[in-house]
Amino acid sequence: VIASAATRAGFDALWAELSPVGRDPRTGGYRRFAWTRADAELREWFVATATVRGMQVEVDRNGNQWAWWGTPGPGAVVTGSHLDSVPGGGAFDGPLGIVTAFLAVDHLRASGVVPARPLAIVNFIEEEGGRYGIACLGSRLMVGAVDPATALALRDDNGDTLGDTIGVDPRGLGPDPEALARIGAYVELHIEQGRALDREGAGIGVASAIWPHGRWHFCFGGEGNHAGTTRLEDRRDPMLPFAEVVTHVRALAERYGILTTVGRVRVDPNGTNAIPAQVDAWLDARGAEAALVEEAVRELTSHAHAAGSGRGVRIDVQRESWTPAVDFDATLRSRLLLALDAAGTSAPVLPTGAGHDAGILASVVPTSMLFVRNPTGVSHSPEEYADDSDCLAGADALATVLEDLLLRAEAPA
Ligand code: GLV
Ligand code: MN
Ligand code: MN
Repeated sequence: VIASAATRAGFDALWAELSPVGRDPRTGGYRRFAWTRADAELREWFVATATVRGMQVEVDRNGNQWAWWGTPGPGAVVTGSHLDSVPGGGAFDGPLGIVTAFLAVDHLRASGVVPARPLAIVNFIEEEGGRYGIACLGSRLMVGAVDPATALALRDDNGDTLGDTIGVDPRGLGPDPEALARIGAYVELHIEQGRALDREGAGIGVASAIWPHGRWHFCFGGEGNHAGTTRLEDRRDPMLPFAEVVTHVRALAERYGILTTVGRVRVDPNGTNAIPAQVDAWLDARGAEAALVEEAVRELTSHAHAAGSGRGVRIDVQRESWTPAVDFDATLRSRLLLALDAAGTSAPVLPTGAGHDAGILASVVPTSMLFVRNPTGVSHSPEEYADDSDCLAGADALATVLEDLLLRAEAPA
């Protein structure tokens, strides 16, 4: 599929607008945390990009932005993704789904498509959980998977709560059945976060499933003291059981055939010449089978308690989030594959270990995802990359499936 000159020009323009926002000039990585200045700039960009297209913009009770083509209402075909990033993230994870959504709308309008139902592009807030710790917070709140009081009390690394910093009325936070009732189907385009498409020589893929995954907070409470005067036998050093947990969880991952990561650590007070008073670490664990992930975390938790008790270190383990396995809607997926096939695009069907708002919505509405080839497979890193030609093919593929969904008079799935 060869993208039109207009799609190419549109892609270059929108990508150039987003490129500088929240970018660290030293590393090239992005830090686009929810409800920060960078996020405000991205949200303004979303409004401006929708407004020049005559699309009406709404903010829902949880802070997710919606841009409408047609009158907001039931049976809508909804697409989009997120504009926030992990710390040191890439340019594509999230923004590619929103940029291609606007390009797909441009393309459908230029082709004279007259939709039988409304279309919305959504920008979900705090998809990465980079600031407050729970991924897909905007969509989880919307479907009622997170309690609003719990969400409002979440703290960022400065100690500010979501309630202090949120850009919408905190009293409105929570389940949004009205917003959900309007979604006839949700289709999210995303850069692939692995190399499966590259290995298959395909530019575009369709998601089958998302692995079950969760996050756990491990707190190691010791006693802060002097590095030069405290005898080894007198120390209650939380760094030691923490280190044991990190190496042990790797061994468990190999034994259980799952993926585990300790990518975030907070050391208090974090001084070179001070035994830490406390170490906080966050575990991300995922696998094809929920039971194996849960069993590994149970084993790790008892290991942590044993490692702590021998050293006078208090251990506290809390599960912060859990997302069960997601099987995307088979009927909607078949429709996507048929529409793509008719347009001459063969798209392999593949599962992923990455979480998405689409996975959260899948519990309530027919949901599907398109993936765009990632030639290195690298993601959540400044090195994340997709070729322009694949991004444009993604915009075309998204337009193809949205057109198919928009023209049908019957419910989308
Ligand atoms: C989201 O990108 C996740 O899977 O952590
Ligand atoms: Mn991500
Ligand atoms: Mn993402």
